[in-house]
Amino acid sequence: MRKKIIAGNWKMNKGPDAAREFAVEMTPKVDGGAADVVFCVPYVSLLAALDAAKGTFVAIGAQNMHFEDAGAYTGEVSPGMLKELGVKYVIIGHSERRAYFGETDDIVNKKAKAALVHGLMPILCVGESLEQRNLGITIEHVRIQVKIAFDGISAVDAEKIVIAYEPIWAIGTGVTATAQQAEEACAAVRQVVAELYGQPIADKIRIQYGGSVTADNAAELFAQPNIDGGLVGGASIKADFDRIVNYQ
Ligand code: 13P
Repeated sequence: MRKKIIAGNWKMNKGPDAAREFAVEMTPKVDGGAADVVFCVPYVSLLAALDAAKGTFVAIGAQNMHFEDAGAYTGEVSPGMLKELGVKYVIIGHSERRAYFGETDDIVNKKAKAALVHGLMPILCVGESLEQRNLGITIEHVRIQVKIAFDGISAVDAEKIVIAYEPIWAIGTGVTATAQQAEEACAAVRQVVAELYGQPIADKIRIQYGGSVTADNAAELFAQPNIDGGLVGGASIKADFDRIVNYQ
């Protein structure tokens, strides 16, 4: 049985004060232990969130990182720096980073490997555009993204990765994939992992759905056999985020 993992991607919202306040309020409501819960907060709010979540089961994640250990990369943050703070997860290859900051599949692969070397758990995002869905190439596209992202990653490391299937057309639009669409894509992702690493690893790896998840649609989405929780954007910084975590 895979344990569900429900992560909030706060995106560019909540500085340290607001992050602390939200985490202090929300942590006790989502700390039941039935699912792993992660708050992925802006870099500058990591310390405040870590402090607020101390002694609870809520883990803190970053939303990005560089793949190099150190060097002349102005404005970047390394995996070792995140690890030193006590960060456990890191979102890699979010579609907003791919679209606005030029992240390619190759960069995503480098970042996934670097995160694993430093003991961070990647939440690795894949997903198709509306154009790709309309062309009927959703599954091919997602398969390619997974194959490149996992290139050169051992089976032992592969199972530490959480994959987030996030159809781009469902992100921030209020248009959620139907449970059937989400399940079909997540099943396809699991199938690629099985082809790469064998069925036992594919059965262990956790696959989230992301894209306009709300307290009202979470239960149906998370009940699908290949959906092991969600990566939640807008609804993760709302006062009723606990309803998503406690969806059952
Ligand atoms: P929304 O839940 O706001 O659609 O965002 C999804 C997302 O991008 C999470 O990473």
